[in-house]
Order: sequence, then structure tokens, then C-alpha cells
Amino acid sequence: MARNPFALPTGTPGRLAGWVMARSDRAHREAADLLAPAAGATVCEVGFGPGQFLAVLAGRDPSLQLCGADPSEVMLAQARARCPAADLRRGTADELPFYDGSADHVAAINNVALWPDRPAGLAEARRVLRPGGTLLLAWHSAAAPSPLNRALSKPAAWWEALLAEVRAEFGNAERHDLRHLTACTATAAST
Ligand SMILES: C[S@@+](CC[C@H](N)C(=O)[O-])C[C@H]1O[C@@H](n2cnc3c(N)ncnc32)[C@H](O)[C@@H]1O
Repeated sequence: MARNPFALPTGTPGRLAGWVMARSDRAHREAADLLAPAAGATVCEVGFGPGQFLAVLAGRDPSLQLCGADPSEVMLAQARARCPAADLRRGTADELPFYDGSADHVAAINNVALWPDRPAGLAEARRVLRPGGTLLLAWHSAAAPSPLNRALSKPAAWWEALLAEVRAEFGNAERHDLRHLTACTATAAST
């Protein structure tokens, strides 16, 4: 069976999927508003795809330290072209190529539903976050204006399960119902 080029972009279909994903940054601007990183903060994006979210952050505040991991070589090339100053590496949610406590924020936009082992991904996000740092997980909203985004949205039970897993790892989790995205945020406890 052919792979979904949006879930793991490879070859020409993957390159095309990257261009399609990069046509709009509405959701990414909304996620950036919610994250609201302070000047100079380090933001690590898991599954950055063509780099729209990182580009929005870089455009808003050049003092941000941007980094991220994605398993797709095709996405790595597109995101590097879009965000040349970011430290972008090949990697997956459950094995992030970054040091413990190295990020103020870990974010994943339209990505968390693709993680094959969600508890492992959440443990990795917490490892990479500094104490007091924040996690942002966002996925297409069931109330989004776009029918395609609504079709890709997840049911309430999926969100309840995700919030429970985030609470198990972080000790806290908050749901946010935005216009294009549903999101979950959590704070890494100070030790
Ligand atoms: C639908 S795209 C979203 C890309 C981007 N975050 C955006 O909002 O435009 C999904 C991305 O997740 C990446 N991905 C797939 N499996 C992954 C995993 N296990 N860990 C991290 N990223 C993954 C894919 O390579 C792809 O770039």
C-alpha cells in the first residue's frame, strides 16, 4: 500500500505534499500566538514538515533559537530552505536528537497523531524541556473553517486520552479550542 505523503513525505509525492502543506500558515500563526515564546527562547519543533511554524516564529522574533526534528529528508530540505537559521535535524518524536533540558518549548503541530509510541514521545519532549518549559501539541480542529481540516480532526475521546497521557507524564495538561486547531499545553515541573 502507498504511504501517505503527508504523514511521512518521501520522493516526488512527498515534495508535492510539502508544497501543499506550505500554502497556508493560518494554523501555525494561531499556534505561535498560543505558545508566545519570550525573546531569546529556544523552541524545538517535532515534525516540522516544510517549516511553516518555524518560519512564522522566525519572522516574528529573530532572537528565538529554533530547532527541530523530522524523519523526512524531503521535509528537512524544504524546512532548511524556509528557515536557514534553524538547527534542523533528522529524528523522530520518540528519539529527539537534542540534549536534556535544552529547550524552553517543545511544539508539535499536526504531528502528534502520527507518533507510533505516544508515551515515548511525551517522555522525550519532557527530557528535552528545561524545568518550567512548556509543551504544545496541536491538531486540526473539528470546528475548523476548512472541510479538509475538519475531516482530519480527532474525536473527543482521542483528546481525552491524549490529555490523560500528557497528565501522566507532566502532572498537568490544559486543552485549548482555537479556530483552526485544538491544542494541549503542559508545563515541565521544576525539579
Ligand atoms: C502533516 S505533516 C505536518 C508538518 C508541519 N508540522 C505542519 O504543520 O505543516 C506531518 C510531519 O510529521 C512528520 N513525522 C511523521 N512521523 C513522525 C514521527 N514519528 N516523529 C516526528 N515527526 C514525524 C512527517 O515527516 C511530516 O513532516
